[in-house]
Amino acid sequence: MLHARHDLKKMIDNDKMLMPTFGSRELREPVPKYELPKAEMRSRSAYQIVHDELMLDGNARLNLATFVTTWMEPEAEKLMSETFDKNMIDKDEYPQTAELEMRCVNILSNLYHAPAEGKACGCSTTGSSEAVMLGAMALKWKWKQRMKAKGKSAEKPNLILGTDVQVCWDKFCRYWEVEPKFVPMVKSRSYSLNAEEVIKLCDENTIGVAPVLGTTITGAYQPVKEINDALDKYNKQTGFDIPIHVDAASGGFIAPFLQRDLEWDFRLKWVKSINVSGHKYGLVYPGVGWVIWRDWNELPEDLIFRVNYLGGDMPTFALNFSRPGNQIVAQYYNFLRLGFDGYKRIQKACQDTAIYLSEKLEKIGPFECLTRGTDIPVFACKLKDGADTNFSVFDVSEMLRHRGWLVPAYTMPENCTDVSLLRIVVKEGFSRDMADLLLDDVGRILTHYKDQPGYKAKRAETKGKVRC
Ligand SMILES: Cc1ncc(COP(=O)(O)O)c(C=O)c1O
Repeated sequence: MLHARHDLKKMIDNDKMLMPTFGSRELREPVPKYELPKAEMRSRSAYQIVHDELMLDGNARLNLATFVTTWMEPEAEKLMSETFDKNMIDKDEYPQTAELEMRCVNILSNLYHAPAEGKACGCSTTGSSEAVMLGAMALKWKWKQRMKAKGKSAEKPNLILGTDVQVCWDKFCRYWEVEPKFVPMVKSRSYSLNAEEVIKLCDENTIGVAPVLGTTITGAYQPVKEINDALDKYNKQTGFDIPIHVDAASGGFIAPFLQRDLEWDFRLKWVKSINVSGHKYGLVYPGVGWVIWRDWNELPEDLIFRVNYLGGDMPTFALNFSRPGNQIVAQYYNFLRLGFDGYKRIQKACQDTAIYLSEKLEKIGPFECLTRGTDIPVFACKLKDGADTNFSVFDVSEMLRHRGWLVPAYTMPENCTDVSLLRIVVKEGFSRDMADLLLDDVGRILTHYKDQPGYKAKRAETKGKVRC
């Protein structure tokens, strides 16, 4: 015993002597990058190496490209780090985390005006992508049931989307063998879906329509009510029951607070399911999302698996199994901490900043905004038609990056790829002061190009889906 204690003391003394200064062996030698190192190294050295490599990443707080939360308050961070070790799938072992998940589902279900009678139906996910998969799978299963009941073939399902949908919808269609029927984006329709175009594409094989509340490309809301009303007529005429799934990845945490009278949720008859990202305007660090169904009738029972090997009889409907419980904890913390008024105040502050920034940008340079942050606090702008500039939005994006700002530039989807945009996502953590600093930098960039009349503007390098 004495001997062991002596060894331990020696080890500690040694460790103190070998503090991981940058002169220590581990920090002077090359680090094995693609092979497992043979031996251990001290935790402090490993920490220092990994920490330092990550300094080369962009600064998350200056990341105006992402929709995902980059700032949470210290109490939320504390709670999250206290609960890193909880696996949310172990519902029998962590019944209180499971209870918090159900509280969140109920809160969202109420916020989205699900019918008051009946139990709230929904679950947490890793984000909107998984939530979209689950919502759209339920649409496909329900459609198959309807076709089977009519004695018809269920071989050729299709789904109606705008070409501006986020890539998760393309994935759903390919992975689950559903034909995507796209409404093209055109300038005359303000680059949005509309009811008339949707109805033109509908038929008996349509499993649903998926309008977006706050598109990834411009942040604009698509007209869910108009589509609902047109579908109501169409379904009556044809005897079909084509439903709507609203992709409210961002808007699901904005519209209930800032546009309360906008009908886009379960107030509309044909809206059967909604996805929302808790890690976007739900104000939680990545990755948590939610899918909420209008009621239990919309979630076919045979999509739910029951497992008993964690103890108890646990229903699961998810693409993943194990994942962190701490994001669910943080979502509930936000609900409790902020309440309706707190969320409203934060979203309004973001929106005010987005509107301010979009207006100022138009004043200081040859920019024209397609959106101004009046739907979700996101706006997209292009260079004015006919503007005689020696730079493109790609140049502006690159120059901003030199200062640390991450502002993406990209082309619109097929049909309007000649339009290139800069997009700014204003989130909690981006103050008016930072907006002014960004404007100053844009001003400096404009002067820089003015001083270089011979410079030739960069063109779009890639054509693909816009990332978030
Ligand atoms: C409209 C829309 N739907 C779905 C997604 C995918 O969301 P997530 O990153 O939460 O999986 C995004 C991401 O930005 C989005 O903007």
